[in-house]
Amino acid sequence: MTIRLKADAAIEIAAAKLRERLGGFHPEFGMILGSGLSELANAVTEPIVVPYDAIPGFPRLSVGGHMARIVAGRIGQRRVIMLQGRVHAYETGEADGMAVPVGALARIGITNLIVTNAAGSLREEAGPGAVVMLSDHINLTGRNPLVGTVGDGRFVDMVDAYDPELRAKFAAVAVARGIPLLQGVYMWFVGPSFETPAEIRAARVLGADFVGMSTVPEVIVARALGLKVAAFSLITNLAAGMGGSHLSHARTLARAAAGAAALRDILTAFMEDAA
Ligand code: HPA
Repeated sequence: MTIRLKADAAIEIAAAKLRERLGGFHPEFGMILGSGLSELANAVTEPIVVPYDAIPGFPRLSVGGHMARIVAGRIGQRRVIMLQGRVHAYETGEADGMAVPVGALARIGITNLIVTNAAGSLREEAGPGAVVMLSDHINLTGRNPLVGTVGDGRFVDMVDAYDPELRAKFAAVAVARGIPLLQGVYMWFVGPSFETPAEIRAARVLGADFVGMSTVPEVIVARALGLKVAAFSLITNLAAGMGGSHLSHARTLARAAAGAAALRDILTAFMEDAA
């Protein structure tokens, strides 16, 4: 079922401009690079670089650690297009801030979207520096990027939103590389304040393994558009009240950059192995 997003007209315009800038290059994998993870784009060979502000409808970013560039090219045999940085719901109050970028990637033909973020962990065994893969998410924020869309296509099935086949492949790649890759449930908090220790205790009861301020709205849009999704968190801290230390954005960025190598390893190995 096709869905009409509120941003459909803007997506069409953005996709046309993006197509023009890519000059005949047709990516199959899209990727969103989160806080401190922009350097993952260094894995791309013969990159085509397009600043977000060259594409109408792409967001203006206000958060440190987000570069606001599109990087397209190859990793191994795969054709990829990466978005270096996202807009978060806490910047604007809107959950659909990434609808145009995700929609434009879908419109130019990607079939898979890999989403990355920095997150807090509720699992002691996946502490700062660990890479984890999302198996599911919890969204009790009261926000959804599809609010305001019309038609039955808005009732998007979220079972297996994190594609089981992609997850199995990534899990196999991680095992082959000897990189531990815990899978778990990501709970979206709008932020921008970090969670309280009481909220983290509540999140644990509800089944959360990781907490963060992004990803979920992008995944919902991607599923609405029929993309296959995989998502990874770079754990920058144990969640509030667990680590005994206070949380800060500077710490998030420093830890994310330090752990990005393992994530880059997994992603590049996947792209190189994937037949
Ligand atoms: N909570 C929410 N978002 C985050 C965290 C956290 O503990 N760490 C990095 N991003």
